[in-house]
Amino acid sequence: MNEQQRKEQAQIKQVDVATDQKSDKEKPLHEKTTADFAKYFETTYKPPNINKARKRGREKVEVHYDFDIPEDMRHIGSGKKFLIRTYGCQMNEHDTEVMAGILTEMGYEATSVTEEADLILLNTCAIRENAENKVFGEIGHLKPLKTEKPDLILGVCGCMSQQETVVNRIMKKHQHIDLIFGTHNIHRLPHLLKEAMFGKAQVVEVWSKEGDIIENLPKVRHGKIKAWVNIMYGCDKFCTYCIVPMTRGKERSRRPEDIIQEVRQLAAEGYQEITLLGQNVNAYGKDFDDIDYRFGDLMDDVRKIDIPRVRFTTSHPRDFDDHLIEVLAKGGNLLDHIHLPVQSGSSEVLRKMNRKYTREDFLELVRKIKAAIPNVTLTTDIIVGFPNETEEQFQETLSLVEEVGFESAYTFIYSPREGTPAARKKDDVTEEEKKDRLYRLNHLVNQQSREAMKKYQGQIVNVLVEGESKKDPDILAGYTEKSKLVNFKGPKEVIGQIVPVKITEAKTWSLDGVMVEEKSLEVN
Ligand code: 5AD
Ligand code: SF4
Repeated sequence: MNEQQRKEQAQIKQVDVATDQKSDKEKPLHEKTTADFAKYFETTYKPPNINKARKRGREKVEVHYDFDIPEDMRHIGSGKKFLIRTYGCQMNEHDTEVMAGILTEMGYEATSVTEEADLILLNTCAIRENAENKVFGEIGHLKPLKTEKPDLILGVCGCMSQQETVVNRIMKKHQHIDLIFGTHNIHRLPHLLKEAMFGKAQVVEVWSKEGDIIENLPKVRHGKIKAWVNIMYGCDKFCTYCIVPMTRGKERSRRPEDIIQEVRQLAAEGYQEITLLGQNVNAYGKDFDDIDYRFGDLMDDVRKIDIPRVRFTTSHPRDFDDHLIEVLAKGGNLLDHIHLPVQSGSSEVLRKMNRKYTREDFLELVRKIKAAIPNVTLTTDIIVGFPNETEEQFQETLSLVEEVGFESAYTFIYSPREGTPAARKKDDVTEEEKKDRLYRLNHLVNQQSREAMKKYQGQIVNVLVEGESKKDPDILAGYTEKSKLVNFKGPKEVIGQIVPVKITEAKTWSLDGVMVEEKSLEVN
């Protein structure tokens, strides 16, 4: 499929509400009814629908290598500045790097000063309600700036733009937003910007084809030390609380040769660490019908590339197979820190979450991982207060955290997401109870983190130095192989290198130390 065909498949194009809605043509926007917008979506946009989404999978994923910025748009940003505010996960951060790459090729320059920007994009997250509230707050804050500077282009993209309710709300209540586009439309940015700059109406393009793979997009990476590498997009797991399968489309893997080439290129450029990215990296390769090549195979190939540190995120316990464990156990640049979201310690809650493993399955997987990689560090994600979670079920989460010995965890109160099955459930757990469970869980996690840190007192660890500490420019900061933050005294020349640091004080979330040698270490 070429660019023209892709464009034609775009489900939402430019919205000229004032002329499209003929019966309401004369009414000012704020008087238009919800029904108008619903009608608009009827023909052009598929809202999140779990039943339909589950039937996905037949449409073939195509890989495109033909991204190009049309001649007339190449200098559209000359003399102008852009600012992208990113919310949410690493996937969004990496998407921001791609958008920054496209904008830079169009002549734009980056700025972090809101008032200086000619283009502001909010790259949004939909995973929890508070993430959405923050974005709507920011949309409101930007209104006076737009009034003051009418040529300023304001755009909303990322996961929130994939939701009908959000697009509706922006169209109805926030007409100062010029541009709304979805997670599958990033490569269309030059065209969309042109429409937003020269057209009179709000530009909305949320492409509902579940996503092809566009390979040769430019990127401006954040720094020269660590890099993200997408290995797959989307998610087909349909955990009942999660909006991601609806906002990011179906699971589709990049071809191994494209990933390997990108990693080799990063190694050649001197990057010290890469993180392989996907909503569920363990499902990598499941969608290939011409080759038998899974995540374990990819890790085995990446292991042979001369880059000191390789991480991956995020894992699903269900697809974590024996071959992958075997490959990870080979060590080298594959670090012995695994982030393995468990979500709950109760088999019954896990069943209701559609996680497709039990507490016992999870513990068995942990046993296998620990047997193969004895020094492994495990961290996790946990949701408390899933609808109707009982105190006993919550206690099972606490006991699992202890049994596994997670060294840290991202912990969340369940947040209902419209369009997901769990959001339709009645819930008898009070807000107070949910907060109390989160508090108790965090208390345990902090305790375990503190214990894990204590082991490092007096030890020498390898630190990839990322820069100066924000609080004190005389102190350098970086991360160990096991992702522990280390603040230490050392010369600025070692920024970007891996150096040995002796730990002098272990705190709950970080370590203090002094560099023991100025020479960088070969980790492999
Ligand atoms: N409510 C609370 N937490 C959620 N997560 C995903 N969806 C929700 C939700 N609706 C959490 C999960 C996931 C992490 C990225 O966010 O723990 O692993
Ligand atoms: Fe969401 Fe992760 Fe479950 Fe996919 S595997 S539905 S991204 S929580």
